[in-house]
Amino acid sequence: MRIAKRTVSHVDYDAELQSHNGALLPACAIRSPEHVLDIGCGTGQTTREAARLAATGSALGVDITEPMIVRARVLAAAEGLHNLLFEHGDAQAISFLPQHFDVAISRACATRWRGTSASKACGSVPASGS
Ligand SMILES: C[S@@+](CC[C@H](N)C(=O)[O-])C[C@H]1O[C@@H](n2cnc3c(N)ncnc32)[C@H](O)[C@@H]1O
Repeated sequence: MRIAKRTVSHVDYDAELQSHNGALLPACAIRSPEHVLDIGCGTGQTTREAARLAATGSALGVDITEPMIVRARVLAAAEGLHNLLFEHGDAQAISFLPQHFDVAISRACATRWRGTSASKACGSVPASGS
C-alpha cells in the first residue's frame, strides 16, 4: 500500500462540486417563496443558492459538524443573505416537520438514510439528493 507523503494544501470543495449543482438545483426547481431544508449542509453553498432561489422564502441548513455551521454563517453574512438560517445538530435525530418545508435537498449527505424525519421530509416533498 502506498501512503501519500504530501498533503493537499488547498482544495476548493465547493468548486469541485459545481457540476453536482448543475443537476441538483434545476431538479429541485426552487422558487419564491418556498421554504427549503438543506440536510448536511456543510459550509452552506447549496443553502445559500437555495436561499437566493427562494427569494422571499427561506432556507434552513443543518449540519452535525459545528465548525461547518460556524463557517456557513460567516459565508452567508459575507454574501448579505438574510433569508437563511444554519442550525447545528444531527439531522437524523431532529424532528423535521414536512409541512414546514416545500423542498428538501442534500448534496452528498442524506441519500442513504431511511426512516428518519429527515428522510421522510425528503420523501414527502419535492426533493433531490446527489
Ligand atoms: C460530504 S459533506 C457535504 C456537505 C454539503 N452538503 C456540501 O455539499 O457542501 C457531508 C456533510 O454531512 C454532514 N453530516 C453527516 N452526518 C450528518 C447528520 N447525521 N446530521 C447532519 N449533518 C450530517 C457532515 O458534517 C458533512 O458536512
